[in-house]
Amino acid sequence: MPGLRLDHVVKRYGTVEAVRGVTFSVPEGAFCAIVGPSGCGKSSVLRMIAGLEKVTEGAVFIDGRLANDIDPADRGLAMVFQDYALYQHMTVEQNLSFGLKVEHKSPDEVRERVDGTARVLALQDLLGRWPRALSGGEKQGVAVGRSIIRERDIVLFDEPMSNLDADLRATTRLEIAKLHRERCFTAVYVTSDQTEAMALADMVVVMRDGQIEQVGSPLDIYENPDTQFVAGFIGSPTMNFLPAVARGSRGGTVRVALSGLDASEITVPMQHPRLKPGTPLTLGIRPEHMTPANDTKFAIELDTEVTEQLGASCLIHARSQHGDPVAIKQKGFSPVRSGERLSFTFAPDKVRLFNEAGARLR
Ligand SMILES: Nc1ncnc2c1ncn2[C@@H]1O[C@H](COP(=O)(O)OP(=O)(O)OP(=O)(O)O)[C@@H](O)[C@H]1O
Ligand SMILES: [Mg+2]
Repeated sequence: MPGLRLDHVVKRYGTVEAVRGVTFSVPEGAFCAIVGPSGCGKSSVLRMIAGLEKVTEGAVFIDGRLANDIDPADRGLAMVFQDYALYQHMTVEQNLSFGLKVEHKSPDEVRERVDGTARVLALQDLLGRWPRALSGGEKQGVAVGRSIIRERDIVLFDEPMSNLDADLRATTRLEIAKLHRERCFTAVYVTSDQTEAMALADMVVVMRDGQIEQVGSPLDIYENPDTQFVAGFIGSPTMNFLPAVARGSRGGTVRVALSGLDASEITVPMQHPRLKPGTPLTLGIRPEHMTPANDTKFAIELDTEVTEQLGASCLIHARSQHGDPVAIKQKGFSPVRSGERLSFTFAPDKVRLFNEAGARLR
C-alpha cells in the first residue's frame, strides 16, 4: 500500500494563491483528515493529489514516485465526492459493479466484490433498488461503495457527508471506519467538521488560509494545540479564551492574572517561563476543565446565561465579569439555572497560554 507525500506544494488560480507551500506525509494505510474553515484550500490539496488540478509549484509523491505529471487514471486512487452522482438508470448492484465490468473482471470476482462491499456498508438489502428509492444516507453509502469497490490503494474523500443529517453522518462515519479497518487503504479525508476528523483520523492536518497550521494525532491536536486558531477550531464547544496578563515567572511556572480579576493569580507550569511581568496573554481553558470553585484560591465569577441539559452532560453558557463568553461542560445533570452567578476554577496544568500573535507559549 503506498503512502503519500506533499513537498512545498503551491496552487495558484490566476492571481489567487489557494495553497501556499504545504508539506506533509501520510504513511501507508493511515487515515489522514484535512480540516479547516471554508476556502482554506482543502479541496485544492485533495484535487492536486488526485491529479484533477495541476500543481503550480512543489511536488506530490505517491508511493515514493513523483506524481505531478501522472495521469489521474494512472494514480491508483479512488475519490468520493460530496455530490453522489449515482447512475439513475442502474440498480444499486449495477451501480456498484459498473466499474469492475469496465475493467473486465470475471463474473465471480464481480459477485464477490459486490457482496463484500455491500456487507461492510450494510447495503445487502438494497442491491435491487433504484437510486430514486434510496434515502440520502443510503445513496451516499452506495457512492462510497462504488468508489472503493475497485480496491484502490488510496481513497480520497471530499466532504462526502456534508449533505447528510447528523444521525446519518454518524452511521456513515462508522461504516467508513470499518471499511478502512478491513481494507487498510491510505485515506485522505477532507472535512470542515472537526468532530468527524477527530473520530475517523489517525492524523489530522489543520489548514488555515492556504497553509498548514498543525499536523498531529487527534489527541495531540486537542491537548497540545500549537496555536490559538487550532485550539479554537478543534473541540466542541471550543476552548474558552480569556484575556490575561503575566505577573512574573520563576522555576518552571508563570503567574497569570485574568484581566479585571487582579486580586487572584493562577500559577501555570511552563517549560520556558520567560515572560516579562505585564506581558498580555490569552488564557485558554476547555469547557470540560472548568469546575465549581469551593474555597479555592483562584476562581472566576460567571453569570450563567443559558444551560443545555443534554442527558449525559450539561453545557452551561456564561459570561465573565469582563464580558467574555465562557462555556462549561459538566457530567450528568446540572441544577444550575440561567441568571445565576457562580464561581468556577480550573487546574493550572489544563491551562494553555497564547501570546498576542496567537502562538502557544510552552
Ligand atoms: N478553479 C478555481 N479558480 C479560482 N479560484 C479557485 C478555484 N478553485 C478554488 N479557488 C479558490 O481557492 C481558495 C481555496 O479553495 P478550496 O476549494 O480549495 O477551499 P476549501 O478549503 O475546499 O473550501 P470549502 O470548505 O468551502 O470547500 C478559495 O479562495 C477559492 O475561492
Ligand atoms: Mg472544499
